[in-house]
This record gives sequence, C-alpha cells and structure tokens, in this order.
Amino acid sequence: MNTQTTSNRAAPRELSREEIEKQFRYAEQVAAIHKQNGRVGESAPRCFVQTFGCQQNEADSERIAGLAILMGYTITHDPAEAKLILVNTCAVREHAEKKALSIIGQYKHLKDADPEVIIGVGGCMVTQQHRADQLKRSYPYVSFVFDTASIHTLPELVAGILAGRGRKFFVGGEGNIAEGIPTHREIAYKAWLSVMYGCNNFCSYCIVPYTRGRERSRTPDAILAEARQLIADGAKDITLLGQNVNSYGRDLGDTTFAELIDAVANLEGDFRLRFMTSHPKDASDELIEVMAKNEKIVRHFHLPLQSGSDNILSRMNRRYTAEKYYGIVEKLRSAMPDISLSSDIIVGFPGERSEDFEATMDMLRRVRYDAIFSFIYSPRKGTPAAEMTDQVPHDISTARFERMLALQNEISLARNQRFVGRELRVLAEEISHGDATKVTGRGDSPRPIHFAADPGVIGQFVNVKITAADTFSLSAEQI
Ligand code: 5AD
Ligand code: SF4
Repeated sequence: MNTQTTSNRAAPRELSREEIEKQFRYAEQVAAIHKQNGRVGESAPRCFVQTFGCQQNEADSERIAGLAILMGYTITHDPAEAKLILVNTCAVREHAEKKALSIIGQYKHLKDADPEVIIGVGGCMVTQQHRADQLKRSYPYVSFVFDTASIHTLPELVAGILAGRGRKFFVGGEGNIAEGIPTHREIAYKAWLSVMYGCNNFCSYCIVPYTRGRERSRTPDAILAEARQLIADGAKDITLLGQNVNSYGRDLGDTTFAELIDAVANLEGDFRLRFMTSHPKDASDELIEVMAKNEKIVRHFHLPLQSGSDNILSRMNRRYTAEKYYGIVEKLRSAMPDISLSSDIIVGFPGERSEDFEATMDMLRRVRYDAIFSFIYSPRKGTPAAEMTDQVPHDISTARFERMLALQNEISLARNQRFVGRELRVLAEEISHGDATKVTGRGDSPRPIHFAADPGVIGQFVNVKITAADTFSLSAEQI
C-alpha cells in the first residue's frame, strides 16, 4: 500500500466551467421549488451544516453552506429548525467516526417529526465505501452521502431527492479541483484558504490519502485571487491549508509553497498569514527564509513529529529520522529565535516499546514545544498499520499518553511564561467563554489570550501587555 503513487490514479483535473454551471442550474431548480412553495425571505427553509474534524473540513463546510444558500436555504445553527441537515464527517480516528454516527442517529427523530427534512452526510467518513454502505443499510432516514471530491454535486443530490429520484450512496469521485464554488463565511476576519487537496504520503496509520485522494494544487492565480477577495472582505488572519503544504506545486511543475506564501504575504493589507500542515520531510530552507523575512507570516510552525523513535518513524513510513527532524527545529530557531512550535504526536503505535516511547519523551524535552496535539493510536481499516500484529494494549497506551500530557503541560506553562511582561499585537477574536467582560484573541502562537476590552474591538488588531501565563492560555491587559 505504501507504494501507491500518482501514476496509478487518474490525473487530478480542474472541473470545467460547464460542470460547475450544471450544478448551479440544479441549485436554481431547488431554489425555484422553494419559491413556488412561498419559502423565500424570512420563510426560506433552513440548512444546518455540522462539521467534525480538521480545518480542511471547516473550509469544505464553508463551501457546503455556500451551495446551500445558492439553493435558497438560510443557514441555521439549530438542527431542529432545519429542512436540510448536512453533516461533514471525519475519519482520522475511530472516536471521530463514532461521534458522527451517534449524532446522525440523533437526527432520526427530526426526520420522523418532519418527513420533508433531508439529511445528507459528507466528508472523510463516508468517502470510505463501507461507511457509505453502512449508512445506506442502517440509517434509512439519511438521503444521500457525498464524498470529499464531490461537494460541488450537492445541488444535484438535493434536487434529486426533491424530485423523488431515490437515495444516493455512491462514493468514488475522482480527485479534482472545483473552482468557483461560493463560500459562506460566518466570521470575516478569520479565513481558511485551501491551497491544495489530498495527500501522497501514505503514513502507515493514516486514512487521509484514501479519503482525500492524491495531492492536487490549486493554481497560484486562483489562490491569489481568493486571498485578495478575503482581504477586501476584511480577513485579518488567513491560514493557507493543505495536508502537506510543503509539497504544494509539485504537480504544477514550476512553483513552490515558499514562493506561494511569499506572493500572498506581499499582497496589500493589514493581515497575517499562517499555514498548516507541514511534513518534516518536505520542510524547506527556502520556506524558513521566506518566513524570516516576512513580517506578515506568523512566528509559529506546526511540525508534526508523530514519534521520536526512528524505529517507529520508519514503521509509520514518515521518511525522516528524529535527528533530521531536530535539524529543522534548529534551523527554525536560528532564523527566528522566538518562534512558537507545535506538533502532533501518536502514542501507542503498533510495536511501540517502552524505549520508543521514551525517545518521544526525550524529543519533547529537547524541542520544548509550545503545544502538542497528542493522540492514542487508532487502527483505521484499510491502512497498513491496522494489519500490524503487535498492537499496543490500550491500558499501556493510556498510561503513556497521560505521562506525556503531564510532561508537556509543564513545558507549555514554562514556554507561556516567556511572554509575561511582553507587549504583543493580538487579533481580538471573540467574547471570552465564561467571562463576558473579556475578549479572547491570539498573537502569533495559537495560545488564546484573554483581556478586558470592549467587544467592539473584535475583528481588529489590538496591542496588549501579557500579565500572567497558564498552561493553555495567557492573560493580558489592553494597552
Ligand atoms: N490514530 C491516531 N492518530 C492519528 N492521526 C492520524 N491518523 C491517526 C490514527 N490512525 C493524527 C496524526 C495527524 C493528526 C491530524 O491526527 O498525529 O498528524
Ligand atoms: Fe496523513 Fe498527514 Fe501522513 Fe498525509 S502526511 S498520510 S495526511 S499524517
């Protein structure tokens, strides 16, 4: 399985304007049906979009909502008042799938109460045929599924259901790029910008290459045009997204991620740029140079380590060693001494011995990340690691996981304390949860910063002075 390459898949292609316009016509048909029934304006039917999983799913949901609006729906946050419920699922760990299935199960009563309700399920979970089949078989109130490459076909799917053409559970859309799909963004000042889709890496534990297909890059022109529009619409914090942004452009031939981010950072406007995710095997010196010279690119790098043991890294098919990884950390810190670092770590990968786990702990002590996202290994059907015979017993993984959290919490607290007394430029993002007199914002590091402020500052950059540090957040006062 690890040997799969681009050569045995159909070449990714940008969908033609006609294909997209065909979908827009289906959307018009759906909107016309609502209109005929007098469901316009205040009485327009509601659509509820529920998102699980990563930022790529968040970005996809903005297009899902954009298409729903094109079909004459108004977006709601309350599933109970929705005529169209679209669930965008994740498959990266079993827990995510269980959660999505349980929520979908809860929507049965909404369909029972109102047979007009249409429930559709998309995302990585249903892009696996066995899950699509399971929904078809055991969730009769679900009308259709749409795979990650077929979001643009939502109008056709909804029109089909309204026309009584029957439930649809086909997955297997070709890896493609659909440009020109409208997006609905709830917050103008924070934006996701997908630069590429899919992944070619086949890390042995990961389902993503199977659910999102091969890497395909959007053109720099399309990305720059979207970035310009976002900035014009008030975006202050833009995250360039891809499963492995550092391989951006390989399929286009003559451009790199470093060149792309440099071009976006050179656009006019007061905004800052982030990016994720970077595979350590592809993190380039060129990218580090571009970051260091460019004030608009935040001083934060998310660089998933996964494991600090070369033995496990090799079994994970990660294609770097712990030493090579640490070399990148050194380069980043020598170019930008105060950079914040974060990482993803998997605990209890098959065959992880005590010494392998200790090697990961050593790397945490050595790198001193600002934050880590740690996960207990979850076998994913169809991936090579799920077939490995030396699975680690759950109680051992859990004990290791807890030790790791305790160590990282100490490190995170110490790292956060370096900010105390400093002045930072922060984007005010929202009213603080649990304290309506405060606003929460973020600087370069993704750590939330809470400070007393008028809610009117939300969406703007403000200067604050950090007064105290916690393990997971900072307190500040506005200057
Ligand atoms: N089990 C546990 N964690 C996983 N991840 C990906 N696949 C699995 C899995 N099967 C983690 C990796 C990745 C993050 C997004 O999710 O750490 O970087
Ligand atoms: Fe999964 Fe990321 Fe590895 Fe791709 S690079 S296979 S998305 S963990």
